[in-house]
Amino acid sequence: STTPVLFSGMQPSGDSLHLGNYLGALVNWVALQERYDAYYCVVDLHAITVAQDPAALRESARRTAAQYIAAGIDPERSTLFVQSHVPAHAELAWVLSTITGFGEASRMTQFKDKSAKQGTDATTVGLFTYPVLMAADILLYDTALVPVGDDQRQHLELTRDLAGRFNSRFGETFRVPEAYIPEVTARIYDLQDPTSKMSKSAASDAGLVNLLDEPKRTAKKIRSAVTDTEREIRFDRAAKPGISNLLDIHSAVSGKSIADLEAEYAGRGYGDLKVELAELVVERVEPIRARTLELMADPAELDRLLAVGADKADAVARETLAKVYDAVGF
Ligand code: ADP
Ligand code: NA
Repeated sequence: STTPVLFSGMQPSGDSLHLGNYLGALVNWVALQERYDAYYCVVDLHAITVAQDPAALRESARRTAAQYIAAGIDPERSTLFVQSHVPAHAELAWVLSTITGFGEASRMTQFKDKSAKQGTDATTVGLFTYPVLMAADILLYDTALVPVGDDQRQHLELTRDLAGRFNSRFGETFRVPEAYIPEVTARIYDLQDPTSKMSKSAASDAGLVNLLDEPKRTAKKIRSAVTDTEREIRFDRAAKPGISNLLDIHSAVSGKSIADLEAEYAGRGYGDLKVELAELVVERVEPIRARTLELMADPAELDRLLAVGADKADAVARETLAKVYDAVGF
């Protein structure tokens, strides 16, 4: 087909994806599947670069896929699959690792940060070669576009370098992908610590809105969000990070501009904003939770959907890998 390919993925994520994953990534993915030949992957091979409990990982991969679908990824339209179901990812990663410089890989800032936190003995070689596996993920599908946040930009640059290097050494094989920069990206902060990004690795769950939380719990978390001692509802990231975060979440969910929200809440209290936002978020997230639970309650159907996705991905990936093997002399 002539529709450009777009590839993106997320690691299987603990018990639930959170509102940051949803508003910052999934909402865009859902919109992008209309315009692109989209591949959405649950990257479980990446997840084992740090220790995982096997049973929890298996369940988490399925639950993450279920949340993609529940959030609106259409498994008929998009290719939705689990990375470990398609062997070519690991196979191509090996080949690419042999054209990656040790120094080049050593310059990846994510690796430097993560390995510094973990210490040398806890850091795996898999964490070191993670960006090479990510390059394989992307290059297998003739990908034109990759939506990437700031933290993944360097990895995409490496992907582009490896594609170009392979092509010049072994003949034209890979398309060199571009970063897809969305017009608007929501960046959601922790409700209790609004200068830190909402993240599953937060020390406490209190500032995290999980897609699979009970509605009451979600509403309570939002109503308990940290604000400031002023009264005025206005957007000021530096001076009022808590209120600014609530306005950002409101804007992402309601589609209203920040200016319109400031006007709407002029002269009203923080309590009004929190109560109304809590309702709005619950209204948006509850159907996703319900649909996820429904999908998880029918494992045969979920597995069928994932097998369809894996078959579609595998057919394309195998073809690319065959070209690569041929080019390198296998
Ligand atoms: P986490 O930080 O919870 O580990 P990941 O790093 O696995 O989340 O991110 C998965 C996807 O969700 C990425 O596309 C990332 O950009 C997006 N994302 C994660 N946290 C946020 C956030 N707080 N705001 C916006 N987008 C986010
Ligand atoms: Na992360």
